[in-house]
Parts: sequence; C-alpha cells; structure tokens
Amino acid sequence: MSGIEINSVLTENRLFEPSAEFTAKARIKSDDLKALYQQAEEDYEGFWANQAKQHIDWHTPFTRTLDDSQAPYFKWFTDGSMNVSYNCIDRHLENKAEKTAIIFEGEGGDVQHISYQQLHDDVCRFANALKIKGIQKGDRVVIYMPMVPEAVVAMQACARIGAIHSVVFGGFSAESLRDRIEDAQAVMLITADGGTRGGKIVELKEAADKALNNGCDSIKHVIVLKRSGQKINMQDNRDTWWSDAVADQSTTCIPEWVNAEDPLFLLYTSGSTGKPKGIQHSSAGYLLNAIITNLWVFDLQDHDIFWCTADVGWITGHTYVAYGPLAAGATIVMYEGAPVIPDAGRFWKMCEQHKVTIFYTAPTAIRALMKFGDDLPNQYDLSSIRLLGTVGEPINPEAWMWYHTVIGKEHCPIVDTWWQTETGANVLTPIPGVTATKPGSCTLALPGMDVDVVNEEGESITEANTGGYLVIKKPWPSMLRTIWGDDQRYIDTYFPKFDGKYYLAGDSARRDEDGYFWIMGRIDDVLNVAGHRLGTMEVESALVANSAVVEAAVVGRPHDVKGEAIVAFVICKGDRPVGEEAEKMAADLRNWVGEQIGPIAKPDDIRFADGLPKTRSGKIMRRLLRTIAAGEEITSDTSTLENEAVVAQLQGEA
Ligand code: PRX
Repeated sequence: MSGIEINSVLTENRLFEPSAEFTAKARIKSDDLKALYQQAEEDYEGFWANQAKQHIDWHTPFTRTLDDSQAPYFKWFTDGSMNVSYNCIDRHLENKAEKTAIIFEGEGGDVQHISYQQLHDDVCRFANALKIKGIQKGDRVVIYMPMVPEAVVAMQACARIGAIHSVVFGGFSAESLRDRIEDAQAVMLITADGGTRGGKIVELKEAADKALNNGCDSIKHVIVLKRSGQKINMQDNRDTWWSDAVADQSTTCIPEWVNAEDPLFLLYTSGSTGKPKGIQHSSAGYLLNAIITNLWVFDLQDHDIFWCTADVGWITGHTYVAYGPLAAGATIVMYEGAPVIPDAGRFWKMCEQHKVTIFYTAPTAIRALMKFGDDLPNQYDLSSIRLLGTVGEPINPEAWMWYHTVIGKEHCPIVDTWWQTETGANVLTPIPGVTATKPGSCTLALPGMDVDVVNEEGESITEANTGGYLVIKKPWPSMLRTIWGDDQRYIDTYFPKFDGKYYLAGDSARRDEDGYFWIMGRIDDVLNVAGHRLGTMEVESALVANSAVVEAAVVGRPHDVKGEAIVAFVICKGDRPVGEEAEKMAADLRNWVGEQIGPIAKPDDIRFADGLPKTRSGKIMRRLLRTIAAGEEITSDTSTLENEAVVAQLQGEA
C-alpha cells in the first residue's frame, strides 16, 4: 500500500498552497483572478461579453449578451453567429497547422499523432460525407463509438455543418441506445464494428443492429468505422463503411455559420425518473465556458500535453477532450482501452511515454489504481506532470493525498472540479496557481459563477459547515438550455423551488470557515457509481421489466472504490427464491440489467424478500433500505411498517 497514513479529520483542513514555481508560470495569477472577480461583480453581462469577444472567433459579432426575457430559458449572445468546429480547428491553421492536436493510443499500444491540419482535413471529409447523406443543420446524429479519434472527428463534423450530435457511451446497451435514438428522433447513427476494452471486443455494431431492429424508424443512415475488424452485418441501403463514405470527399468544407443559440449537442443523463433526459447545450455559450475553464483551471499553455481520461460518451469527454482543449489549441491524449491493461501501471506508462503535463481523471480511477500500491507509478518517470485534476464525485482525503504524493510528487496542484452535465463546464474549482487547496473540497466558484448554499426558503446559509441546497443564482453561458423535447421537465427539475429564481443543482453542500465548498451528496434519487450518474428509478424500471419480477427498490451503499455500489431489493413472482435458486436469479437479473442499461448499472447486491418495507400509506421506506444495504444497525422504529417481517428477510437473516 501507499505507506501514507492519513487522518481524514486532520487532513481536511490542511491547506496546500500552490508552489512558487507553478505560480510564476501560471496563466492566472492572484491579481488576474481578483480582477476577474471584480469585473464579474461590477458588471456581470459586461464580464461575459468581454470573455466571449476575447475567446471566440465570431462570424457575426453579437451585440446582445444575455436575454432573460423568458427566464429561466436564458439565451446568450443571441444575435451572433459562429461555428464551433471553426473555433476548434480552422483558427489554429495559420500558426499551428503542424502542431499535434491528438495523440491517440489503442489498448494494444498502437499510437497515432494527428496534427491540426490532418484533423481539419478529416473533419471536412467526414462533414462532406454527412452532407452527401442528406444531413442538414438541426438534424440529430447519434454517435456510438469507441474512444478513438474518429469519435472526435464525428463530433466536430456535426458541429461543422450545424447538425446536433448525441454521443451515447459505448458501454450502454442496445436498449439504452434505442431509447436515446428515439427520444432525439435521430436520422443517422455513427458507430464502429467494435471497440476494445479490457482485452475484449465491445460489439458496438451488433448492439446497434439490435437497437435498429426494435424501433428507431427515424434512422435513415448508419456509418460504420472499421476498428476491431470482426465480422459484422452490413445492411444494404442503410449501412456504409466510414472509409467508403469519405473516399471521394474534399478536404474543404465551409463551416455552417450557426446562431450562438443553435444547439451544439444533446447528452442524455440520469435523473430521478426512469427515463434519461436529453440535456441540450448551445453552441457559443457552451464553447465559451469550455474554453475559459481549459485556460483558467487547466492552465493550458502551448507546450502542454493534456490528458483527460474521460470517454467522449460523458460530458467531461465533451468539454475536456473533444471541444475545450482543441478550441484552446492544445495537444490532447486519447486512450481507447482499460487502465489495467496489461497492468495497473498503464496510465503512468502513458504519462511517461507521451510526456503528459496535465492529467485529469475521476476519484474512482485514483482509488482503484491506488490499491495496487506505489511501485507501479514509481517505475515511470512522471516528472512531466505539472497539474492534476479530479472530477465526478467527492474525493476522499486518502486518495487525494496519494494522488498528491505518489503521482504529483508533492509539487503539482490538484484541481478538484465540481460541475455537471447540465453546467457544461467546471463551476466550483481551484485556480491552480492561486487557490490553496484542501483535500476533499472543490474550493470556490469561478469568476462569473454565482454559487451559493441555501436553506429551504432560499436564504443563504451563512453559518459555517451547515448543509443546504447547492444553487447557482445567475444564469451562465454554458448552462443547459432545456431538456430535449420537454421544456416543462426542465423547469420542474432545475427550477422547482425558490420561485424558480435559482438553478437547483441537485446536490447538497456546505461551506467551511474559509467559504470553501464541500459537496455532501445528491438530494434526489440519483446514484454516483464510479463517477457516473444513474437514477435508482432507471435501475428499478429495468428490473421490473423482467417477467420474473413484481417489484424492486434500488438504493446506493458506500463503496471504497466506486464511491457508491448498487443494491437492489427485489420481490419475485411466486415464492421468494432462496439458496441456490436465489443466487441464480440474482445472476440472471444482474445480466438482465446489464442488457437493459449497460454493465455500469448491474447491481452489486440483489436481495429477495416477500415484500418491501412500506409505511401504512404505501410509501417504500428508502432510508431504511439504505441502512439495510449498508449493513448498519436499524435504529428507527420499524413497528409502524406495514410488513415488519420483511426487514429480517432483506437483511438476509430469514
Ligand atoms: O453530484 C455531483 C457529482 O456528479 C454530479 C454530476 O454528474 P454528471 O452530470 O454525470 O457529471 C459528472 C462530470 C462533471 C454532480 O451533481 N460531482 C461531479 N463533480 C464532483 C462531484 N461531486 C463532488 N466533487 C466533485 N468534484
């Protein structure tokens, strides 16, 4: 093990100041940050207008900054036009055409370096191929691909022609893919024969075929990248190989100048109902926060090699892989495989090999790799790394200290970035050359972000360390615009309280004596499993869709690597399965959930009973289920339960 002994309580309030060496070279110094806060404070719209003028190349400059006439449907830079792909690629061609944009490594060790010029040519050819297939501005295109450069090419090509992409994580099942295609009424699917992960082939085309054979009538074309090389089925008149689609295409494609508010993409994420929501992002506002956070939080400079390990199927892979760093003209690293192939030193080996300077990953990955001890990272030269980041879930001080000591060699700042699919970009985070950090805290709000912790009445909680609702009080450019096709759900989910004035993040938080934010957890029925959001209802819906199941309740239980593990309490038709029968049923249901949603949603633990603990009014007692799942002692009075006897069954005692 790491050999570091940490007392969480003591570590919690220890301040880690950025080193003088880091600060001296950082983009944002203390005075710069003060000036940014001051500008945002004095003239909020003026601040954002300045940022938008400074960081985005506009085709038609905007004259209006914020339109709040239909709040909370906010609009930004509404009379401006631009193109995201132009901003990510073309504008670098004059000075950086030969600079590497993407360093790609496959699980087998194959490496590609793609320059900005090459990326431009690939994106243009693919964009032209999309046009030939009849894709037009505003059409929805679903991208279901492995973590390969072509996934970024596909996203950028959509952006180039004004099509709205919806990337579906390659680990999602055929069912999940179908739901997302149908909700978006997508006309095209871009996929691959298969991807590689953990030495296995992920059968993407097979899953895509399954989805398309069970609905998805809106899909007219499928483009298939050859990646794994396995035999797949290609359907005449619908499926085209990527290589054929781009074969005769020109490397020039004039960007479609879209309105600042035209949607750039949808990304489906879990909420507290059974149906994922299509989070809709704008073009210019989204891009603006993506750029400034890459510059301010990741201190991106011309020589940097930035590796954000997130898959493009998640928002982190959009903002810190496919868009933000490219718009900032950086070099990024992409890796297709698993972090433990051939061993748990893979990330560190790649950091050495590609001379990574900025490394951004999830606490789950850090905890998982930390378990393998210090010897693996110590085998590699990690001296190129100058900045570390985390995202997706709270990081426990032990993992933070390991990251700081063993990976960062005690000289790299760690930016613990709190944000969401809905916020589009980092919101609460240190500025690496300025903010002193505390392990486990995402510290302070960025300039221009009005974040607070409030009570039930919407009043600021001024008392230190008192928990409340995490809210954002003013609109910001990269906020979601709505939920695709469901404006009412947007209001109901994000503006249900406080007279609809504040954006409700769905997290609870507290601020300490220094005003630092500490995220305490979700306030809704959303789980955070290995940094990924999953609705308990989503897993419950999948379970009850199985013909053997009558009722199911799903809760989270603390897990030392994944943050949370999924525990399902299930009532089956007929007699309650016990012994071997229960084991078999649990295994079948785990696989079933995997097929319905994807492997990440498979419950870790499934327990059977004759009924679920309910109040006399019929409400499932989730708090009690969480206590049972965690194996904790039940201190509440269970005698008011309608069916007290099931408690022992669920605890595995009867
Ligand atoms: O609960 C918070 C947690 O992840 C949620 C957002 O999930 P998602 O939209 O999938 O985006 C993940 C990547 C941005 C938040 O509501 N979360 C995210 N970052 C942190 C975090 N919790 C604590 N600390 C963080 N740094």
